[in-house]
Amino acid sequence: MFDSISERYDLLNRVLSLGIDVQWRKRVLKRLRPYAPQSILDVATGTGDLAIGLLQLKPKEVVGLDLSPGMLAQADQKVRKRGLADRIQLVEGDSEQLPFAQDYFDAVTVAFGVRNFEQLEQGLSEMARVLKSGGVVAILEFSRSRVPLVAPLFKLYFHHILPALGRWVSRDASAYTYLPASVAAFPEGDEFLRILQKSGFCEAQQERLTFGICTLYTAQKK
Ligand SMILES: C[S@@+](CC[C@H](N)C(=O)[O-])C[C@H]1O[C@@H](n2cnc3c(N)ncnc32)[C@H](O)[C@@H]1O
Repeated sequence: MFDSISERYDLLNRVLSLGIDVQWRKRVLKRLRPYAPQSILDVATGTGDLAIGLLQLKPKEVVGLDLSPGMLAQADQKVRKRGLADRIQLVEGDSEQLPFAQDYFDAVTVAFGVRNFEQLEQGLSEMARVLKSGGVVAILEFSRSRVPLVAPLFKLYFHHILPALGRWVSRDASAYTYLPASVAAFPEGDEFLRILQKSGFCEAQQERLTFGICTLYTAQKK
């Protein structure tokens, strides 16, 4: 599915989120900055926006991994255009079987990717495996707003307006119908924190963003 929408993914992101997704990724940088990570893995990097943003933390190494060759091709184009090819390494691979040694990275990030993992706990355990002890994980994912007034409005947007707009811009009938369905089915909030703890992390915390429609989870490897 991501291969088929890869060329229009960035445009769709900006339009459908009204540009707020840029702020959410900046929040990840703010939370990671105190750790000064030197080697960072961005899992499900897609077209590479977060991987590129992570360079602001001045790490020695950023690796972006994704399953979709189409999304990686877009990331590669963007990285080359900005002259960053020697600073970001792009790798095709599966989050559930990461092709990296254990205890290697200082930080692992995922933006809007964990919802797509076929086996969530396997993907999270893999992230814990490749992190150094005390290393930090930062995960951005959609969540369901509980704010009165905002919640029903967002539901209307997410379930009716967004799929129609997404179909129109992406020319893919299924891609943006899948999005609200996958968010509705995904464990969020305290439930997600418990899954992080079961997968090898401690100090799991959540920060709800923009009326709770997105949540930033952070945790450390035990
Ligand atoms: C919604 S996009 C998010 C992309 C990017 N992180 C962003 O913030 O725009 C989800 C990405 O997850 C990737 N993905 C899904 N399952 C994956 C897996 N098992 N391993 C690696 N990447 C995966 C998809 O190919 C897609 O690029």
